[in-house]
Amino acid sequence: MAVSEAPASERIVRSSSDLTIERVRLRELVDYAEHTSRVTPANQELPITPHLARAQASNPYADPDDIALLVGRSGRNCAAYLGLLPGRLRIGDRIARVHWATGWGVAPGFGGRGYGRRLLAAALAEPIDFLSTGNSDAAERSFRRAGLRELGPFAFRVIYLQKPLAERAWKRIRRDVLSKPADRLSVVPEFTLSRPTGRGKLILRETAELSEDAERLLASTRPEVVFERGVDAIHWTVRCPWVDADGCAPPENYRFAMVRDAFRCGLLEAHDRDTGQFAGFLAFAASTQNNLLMLKLLDYCFDRDAQATAGRALLQLARLVRGDGLVLSDVCAAPLRPLLSCGSVEHKRQRGYFWHPGGADSPLARVANRVALSLCDGDTAFT
Ligand SMILES: CC(C)(COP(=O)(O)OP(=O)(O)OC[C@H]1O[C@@H](n2cnc3c(N)ncnc32)[C@H](O)[C@@H]1OP(=O)(O)O)[C@@H](O)C(=O)NCCC(=O)NCCS
Repeated sequence: MAVSEAPASERIVRSSSDLTIERVRLRELVDYAEHTSRVTPANQELPITPHLARAQASNPYADPDDIALLVGRSGRNCAAYLGLLPGRLRIGDRIARVHWATGWGVAPGFGGRGYGRRLLAAALAEPIDFLSTGNSDAAERSFRRAGLRELGPFAFRVIYLQKPLAERAWKRIRRDVLSKPADRLSVVPEFTLSRPTGRGKLILRETAELSEDAERLLASTRPEVVFERGVDAIHWTVRCPWVDADGCAPPENYRFAMVRDAFRCGLLEAHDRDTGQFAGFLAFAASTQNNLLMLKLLDYCFDRDAQATAGRALLQLARLVRGDGLVLSDVCAAPLRPLLSCGSVEHKRQRGYFWHPGGADSPLARVANRVALSLCDGDTAFT
């Protein structure tokens, strides 16, 4: 007999003959995840891992009473689940809340019964502005059928860099001599970057924590309507990665467990080389798989030419650590084109957003067509 977890009666929100839906609040998420992972046999699906639960519990924009996870149980087994990740929507001087879908899945053996959609319906019944991005085709089909509205898409690029001839030749002859991608990431040396306008240079250095200057610059340059990520959220992303790396094996019975050969996020602050004045920052995620080192541009902010400066800084960083590719928004990628070696390959990508308002006059309902989108929206900064 399947021995898993019986839903605690106070958490049950909907119950039918085949599916009981329970909701887990943020304040109980870590205990719930730890307990569930202890009592769930290896051949049954987990609705979340303790590692993910701990990361979500550190979200600076979440409240202990927020609903963090919906779990659909068939008998005692987890049959489907849907996570909710609170975030901010800034509208001018006002801050509203949104809830991003994360980790939405139907467990193996329970597909084709509409359980995922029933969990979605339970989430949409909550008085929240619901959003999801970075979705699979199956998820998009379900969102459309459920009548969710769409915004975006957000356009970004994956660029595979052509390496200098000498490096390519050397790599073919002596693979063993070149350090592994993971080793190249351990230290990011300080580097100099020309301003895109050609006047002046910046010095970029890695830092464990962004300064108050970064906070001030971010506040003075942000768009009017945006899914806001302040310095606190950026620190959270960098300190609580969801990806398992460096030989860690995530549980095999969680569908969204992510593992890479190496993964790390980092922060670079920039100062004007001549005046020493603070000029901006960027956050990056570096991940390696199959010996390819990819650098993704997360949050960034610069005093001027922000998009071109951020793109150039990522390219320069990739050259320093001998990275194989970049992932960045279209607007940051476009100014890079003249700087890329011939032979580099660009892939266009785009990502849609599905949303459902918490009410006819909810904050998101009022401004959905005006939001400035970013590569870090939703849970995508963590992957
Ligand atoms: C995305 C996902 C959660 C959607 O859940 P879902 O809509 O309930 O999907 P399921 O495949 O379990 O069930 C839907 C199917 O069951 C069928 N179905 C049978 N009985 C049903 C019922 N009572 N109600 C609704 N659908 C029913 C539907 O016709 C549908 O088939 P179709 O998609 O071929 O038309 C699920 O497809 C999934 O886990 N996918 C893999 C992981 C994933 O992509 N997650 C999203 C990451 S962004």
